Amino acid sequence: MYKRLYAESVNTPERFWGRQARELLFWRRPFKKVLNWKLPHAKWFEKGQLNVSENCLDRHLTSGRANKAAMIFEGEAGDVRTLTYRQLHQEVCRMANALTALGLVRGDRAAIYMPMVPEAAIAMLGCARIGVIHTVIFGGFSSEAIKDRVNDCQARVIITADGGWRRGRIVELKENVDRALAGTPTVERVIVLKRTGHEVPMVEGRDRWWHDLVASQPSSHKAKAFGSENPLFILYTSGSTGKPKGVLHTSAGYLLQNHLAMKYVFDLKDDDILFCTADVGWVTGHSYIVYGPLSAGATILMYEGAPNHPEPDRFWALIDRHHATILYTAPTAIRAFMRWGDAYVKRHRLDSLRLLGSVGEPINPEAWMWYYTVVGKKRCPIIDTWWQTETGAIMVTPLPGVTPLKPGSCAMPFFGVVPKVLDEQGNDVPRGSGGRLFLAKPWPAMLRTLWGDDDRFRRQYWSELPGYYFAGDGARFDKDGYLWVVGRIDDVLNVSGHRIGTAEVESAIVSHPFVAEAAVVGRPDEIKGQALVCFVTLKNGIEATAELKEVIRAHVAKEIGSLARPDDVRFAAGLPKTRSGKIMRRILKEIAVGGVVKGDTTTLEDFAVVATLQAEE
Ligand code: PRX
Repeated sequence: MYKRLYAESVNTPERFWGRQARELLFWRRPFKKVLNWKLPHAKWFEKGQLNVSENCLDRHLTSGRANKAAMIFEGEAGDVRTLTYRQLHQEVCRMANALTALGLVRGDRAAIYMPMVPEAAIAMLGCARIGVIHTVIFGGFSSEAIKDRVNDCQARVIITADGGWRRGRIVELKENVDRALAGTPTVERVIVLKRTGHEVPMVEGRDRWWHDLVASQPSSHKAKAFGSENPLFILYTSGSTGKPKGVLHTSAGYLLQNHLAMKYVFDLKDDDILFCTADVGWVTGHSYIVYGPLSAGATILMYEGAPNHPEPDRFWALIDRHHATILYTAPTAIRAFMRWGDAYVKRHRLDSLRLLGSVGEPINPEAWMWYYTVVGKKRCPIIDTWWQTETGAIMVTPLPGVTPLKPGSCAMPFFGVVPKVLDEQGNDVPRGSGGRLFLAKPWPAMLRTLWGDDDRFRRQYWSELPGYYFAGDGARFDKDGYLWVVGRIDDVLNVSGHRIGTAEVESAIVSHPFVAEAAVVGRPDEIKGQALVCFVTLKNGIEATAELKEVIRAHVAKEIGSLARPDDVRFAAGLPKTRSGKIMRRILKEIAVGGVVKGDTTTLEDFAVVATLQAEE
């Protein structure tokens, strides 16, 4: 079946996607054309009209799912709330009415900076319902990062909370927003959810409590129909320059491919409970907590806090308590649990589980085997899903019950996806050899552009090899045609499954008044996948001290967020450079990994620099 459907999806994509779109989505007006592809711009399902929020909510009210749980939520402190589809629909309608009351209209942007609570999803769906483009900013980002994102997309509104819970402590969300708002002229209003209940200042005329503004709105709302290509959200992600990119996703294609992934990749059954541990601030949360599962009428389990709070068995306790059937998490989490020990897993009954998923970074075979044996008790297939913020939906993955599994490989392309592993000249590399990963065909959930920067969109993704989408990853096919993704080959690091641009961290470091220059490289890390190592030269007269290392680490956390806090800061008298002044990262990487420089160093401007760096090891 897979082979036949896959062949149809790549040989006659318009027939395949047209049929799926008619079957899986609820259209207000049927589309006329499946795909209009003018490289690199795709338009899917032209002339069609639909409402994403209606597809995720209203249609389930009349299909027997009104009283089905859409969301089971557990707070870090153990508070549990269940929202049925009917209740979720009412809350989303209230949100849509509240945003409308504030004067927001289709095409406006709203930023969402929330803890992992149902209201985060309600805010997203409320925006989608009235055609407002949301940009969710991960709650771990700093006020500087909020400011940059809000200014880039010119958001009129920020939806936030007083705080969130993390390891028993309050994350000061409102405080971060207030600091960011000193430099965001476009923001008119702030909607504040009371989550922690601690005191936060409210600015008269600008800030409104959720429970005043939203809760008093009518719980019904007639959703308008929007065009298939109506923008749904912007999600900022790191690239190879200092400035994050605003990846733009639109409506019908994005929703369709994620719905289809629910059906085939997650093999969704009506009684499934899907525990996706990603934060809604990342694309995984967008696609597999909110839009994919709700469009497919699934039940989602959402958890607010840390995986090891109050003890390192929290995920297993959640699965046990709520009978989750699918666990979708990241290799970093799996490796951390592996280190914490089997005993924490064995404390709980996990026999509700039937499927395990992995996403965000390559999973090493050892972690895969542990996941398979200790968590899945050798009963549950593992879907190792490769995709990206830009792809919007899962692109390469085994299908449970269909694809024989190989630990560490993301296996086979999903419908409509044609991955290629190519060399510098654009030739297919032989099976077994490594190359650069490209995608040869447009897909419905693909990014449409980078917000406000179509040039960068073309340059970044479509100019490496004309006609192909460049993923930025290195990969190889094995002799059986299985894909193995090795990791990023550009200036992007993957730390604990979070994408961090080396240039972003470098510009944060050099913004410190004591710093002259900085270069950031990755070092393999047993738990986090990669760790951040920063080489820093200080301005004349500044003394390199252990305290200053801490100051620089804290400075990066303040500028970007603690997810980017360097693991290692190393001072250097100068950075190794080519004659044209380019920092030689290869050499720094070797020093970061092993301390010794191998290979050719004759292009170095200053040999003494390398000698000094090595001596400092
Ligand atoms: O390097 C690949 C890695 O994560 C990158 C995409 O990161 P982001 O846009 O933050 O999205 C993560 C969640 C979809 C990719 O370029 N990556 C993601 N999934 C896998 C992976 N690497 C190997 N195997 C995977 N399953």
